[in-house]
Parts: sequence; structure tokens; C-alpha cells
Amino acid sequence: MPDNKKMIITSALPYSEAIPHIGNFVGSILPADVFYRYTELAGYDSIFICGSDQHGTPIEIRALKEGVAPERLADSVHERMKEIFGKFECRFTYYGKTHSESNKKAVYEIFGALERNGYIKSVESVMPYCNIDKRFLTDRYIEGKCPYCGFEGARGDQCDNCGRLLTPGELVDPYCGLCHNKDIEFKKTMNLAIELDKLQPDILEFVKGRMGSWSKNAANKTISYLGQGLEAREITREMKWGFPVPKEGFEDKVFYVWFDAVIGYIGISMEWSDKWKDYWKNPETRLIQFMGKDNIEFHTMMWPGLLIGANLGYVLPHTIYAYEYLTAKGLKFSKSRGVGLNMENALEIADADYWRFALMYLSPENSDTDFTIALFVDIINKVMNDKIGNYVHRVLTLLKNSKLRVEDLKTDIGQMPKAIKLRESYVNNFEGFRIREALRDLVAIADLGNEMISNKKPWEIVGKDGVLPGNEENARSMLGSLVRLVYHIGMLMWPFAPEASKKILRRFGVEKPGISLLDNEIEALDLEGLEPIFTKFSEKQLKKLEKFEES
Ligand code: MF3
Ligand code: ZN
Repeated sequence: MPDNKKMIITSALPYSEAIPHIGNFVGSILPADVFYRYTELAGYDSIFICGSDQHGTPIEIRALKEGVAPERLADSVHERMKEIFGKFECRFTYYGKTHSESNKKAVYEIFGALERNGYIKSVESVMPYCNIDKRFLTDRYIEGKCPYCGFEGARGDQCDNCGRLLTPGELVDPYCGLCHNKDIEFKKTMNLAIELDKLQPDILEFVKGRMGSWSKNAANKTISYLGQGLEAREITREMKWGFPVPKEGFEDKVFYVWFDAVIGYIGISMEWSDKWKDYWKNPETRLIQFMGKDNIEFHTMMWPGLLIGANLGYVLPHTIYAYEYLTAKGLKFSKSRGVGLNMENALEIADADYWRFALMYLSPENSDTDFTIALFVDIINKVMNDKIGNYVHRVLTLLKNSKLRVEDLKTDIGQMPKAIKLRESYVNNFEGFRIREALRDLVAIADLGNEMISNKKPWEIVGKDGVLPGNEENARSMLGSLVRLVYHIGMLMWPFAPEASKKILRRFGVEKPGISLLDNEIEALDLEGLEPIFTKFSEKQLKKLEKFEES
């Protein structure tokens, strides 16, 4: 482990627009949570920060349509998301939100510093304006006919029919997306922009120094953007929902959603505790950021750019880890919003442990990965139940039947080189962000145990009512080794399947898991009320899951 033990771990902040789908979860929050749990196991001094991204056009539009205040809508979805992440056992140090007083303070502080340091300029743009609603129509507020495919109802930023990216000026016969009138004119307006072009040399230096620990996609995309040269980027918008811009002449505008979202990592930490400074203003802290691949640009250029430009002593990102997509052919899954398999209905099908484990097993770490029902069921039945669950249950049952006491067992870990190797590999894989491989190491420990059982045939020396006479010595070391592996499984499974892990560790008297404990002698073993830790996927569960198949 490196000397610098302080770490901030973040996941991209999910929009508080709708309950995330399973595909969104596995693409950022879940790996961040699993990694954070690993850092706790490994003894780092880490915090895990996330929260709801509450600003932006989609929320403002939905609130208008539903006739509620955007803040109320965003807060109610935020509360539901927080609750559902809790049910998935996410161990945030703090789960906050971007529309908060502390984030506003952080945004104003950074904006003020950027301005003082000469990195903010005003830029003129031409924007559609609705004379009826008396407001500018950003991105999606304006609709019309697509100039490419003729689709009626294309939006100002994109045509949903042919997928082309559009600008409002390209729409044929544009109308207001709010009142549907055509009384629209294109007006000049001023916005504020951050001069990323001026910051380019510093951003480049930062990227070169850090890129070694990034995911490939993040490094590659960033190099290519920097090669094209960065341009000034607007950070304000003609909207009402957001933080008002504290500058003369711009008071009727708000900051762009991405500007206060990335700063939200800091603003949310400030709301968490006064201790936020020990992490964010300590140059030794490693800031590890997980996200989906569509978030790379903002995190590798705008975010470090604004931190460098503001020069307020905040740590810069250390590792940017961007996930590919978990796709699900034939399942209503991550594309269609509102319908489909979201995090809430997933829990009606299987408990959190099963989802967490199976999703990480399929994690789209370096390429898009396809999720299918067959794969999901196989992971639960063949890996979780058959390999891991059965092993743990068999060994604990044998121990109970043997009537040996924990003091009688010989559990010298020095005698188990293969287990030690796998444990080391687990740690190395986590340190290199190969979380999927770390999970494979855990499964390999169970494989090792199952192999030992079939080679050593413990049932030949342990009867239903104790060890068969003359086999005591043999049983003490054989069961000692087998239970040692159960202990490893319980401990190393904690990031992936925390509930099952806790059930196992409780038997060993472990309250606070830690990898270093694995070297100590096992001191307690409670074998009361044994029951399997995992069960197979039932027909009933399968029926429920199949309801989400695309017809
Ligand atoms: N809300 C964005 C999304 O879901 C992610 C924002 S990440 C942040 O794509 F850092 F900007 F907050
Ligand atoms: Zn209108």
C-alpha cells in the first residue's frame, strides 16, 4: 500500500430525474462503492462522496409539465434515490445533492477565483427566444422538423428519430417546446465562458502526469481532445432553475448544470463535515473518480481546468476510471427512461447481494458487456450458490458435526501458499482498478476449497457425531485449512456481497472487516443456526425477471 493513505472516492452524480436503471448503477456507483469498501478492508483513510445532480434542462422541463417547482421535483427524486442506494448497501460517507447552500458557496468561490485569475470571458451567441413565454429556449425547449430526416418533433439538440445532433437554428419550422407557438425569434445573448484554451498547457501537463492510472478510454479520449485544441466553454445558461450567476448583467442567467455538478463533489463534501478540508486540501490525498464513459470529457478537461484556474488548493483528480456500457439486448434496461428494469423493481426480483455480485461479475470494465437473463441466472446458480455458498455451508456443517473447538483447529496460514497468492492477487487487482479480476480471485479461493474437499474427503473422517476415532490429528489440520478459506471468503466478499459477508464474519466474531485480520489466528467460531448463505434463482424469480423482456 502506498504511504499516502488518504483517499477521496467519488461516483458521477446521477441526475435526480428518474430512478436509475441497473445499467446506470453498474457503470459508476456500484464499482465506486465496491472499491470504497476495498479501501476500508485494506486500511486506507478514505471517504466516499456522491449525490444527486439536480439542475439542468430535463428537470426544469418535467417540473413545468407537471406543474411543480423544479426544486420539489428534484428533491423528491433525490430522496427516493438515496433510499434505493441504501437498499443496495451503498456505503456513502455522504450522499448529498447539488442544489444546496454548501454547493452554491463552493460554486461562487470557484467562479470568483476563476474570474480574478482571468479565465472568464463573455461570449455572444444567438439563441431562440419565445415571444409568448418571454424566455430563451435552450437545447430541448425548442422543437421542429429535422432537416435531415424530416421527423416532426426533433429537439434543438438532437433528432430522436435519426439521432443527428442539431443546433436550434437548423430546425425547420421551429416552435416553442413549452407553449407550442411559432412566435420565435433568434436573439443575441451574452454568456460567460471558461477559457479552457488559456488553460490548455496546464491541463496537458496535469493529464500527462496522471494518465498512467486512468482507464484506457479516458486516457485516449482526452489525448484526442487535447490534440484538437481546447476552446472556451460556456458555463452559463438562459434558464431559471440553477444557481443565479453573481455578476452584473448576468443575474437573470444560471450556471450550466455541468459546472455546478463537478464542483458538487466539493460542495457535497463541505456539507458532510468540517473534516472535508483534511481530504480536499491535502496535496497527498488521492482523488479517485468513477464514471460512465459519456462523462469523460467533463472530468478530464473542464473539471481539472476549473480547479487549476481557480488555484484554491483543491486536490486534482488522481485516477479517472470510466466504464463502458452494460448492454442488455432484448431487455428493457438502460435506454428507455421511465420504463424497464430500474433499481427499484430489480430488488423485487433478487436481494442486493445477488445484483451486486452478478453485476460486478459482468462489469463493463474495458469493453461494453452484454447482460442476459441466462448469464445472470448462471452466476447466481453456478458461481454464488454452487461454488461459494455450498463450500461455506459444507465446511461449517462439517465443523459442527466434528464437535472440535476452535482452539483445536490448526489454521496456520503459512501452510496455504495458494490461498496467500490469491489474496495478493485480489489486492493487486483492486489497486489496479481491475475489480472484475479481484472478484475472480475470490471465486478462485472457493474453487481451491472445493478442490481440497474432493481431494481430502473429510466426510471419511468426520461422522455425524464427531471425528471418527484415530483421525483427530488429521481432522484438526484438514478442517483448520478448510475453515481458513471460509474466513477468507467471508472477508474478501464484503465489497461485493456485504450481507452474506456479514453473516459469515459474525460467526468469526468480526465486527469490522479488514484484510490484515486474515493473518491472525481464528479466535471465535459460532456455529449456531447454520443455513445456506445463498440460494438458487427460483422459477418464480425467473418469471418476474422475464416480464422485463422486450416483447
Ligand atoms: N449527472 C451526470 C450524468 O448522469 C453526471 C454528472 S457527474 C458530475 O450523466 F460530476 F458532474 F457530477
Ligand atoms: Zn413558447
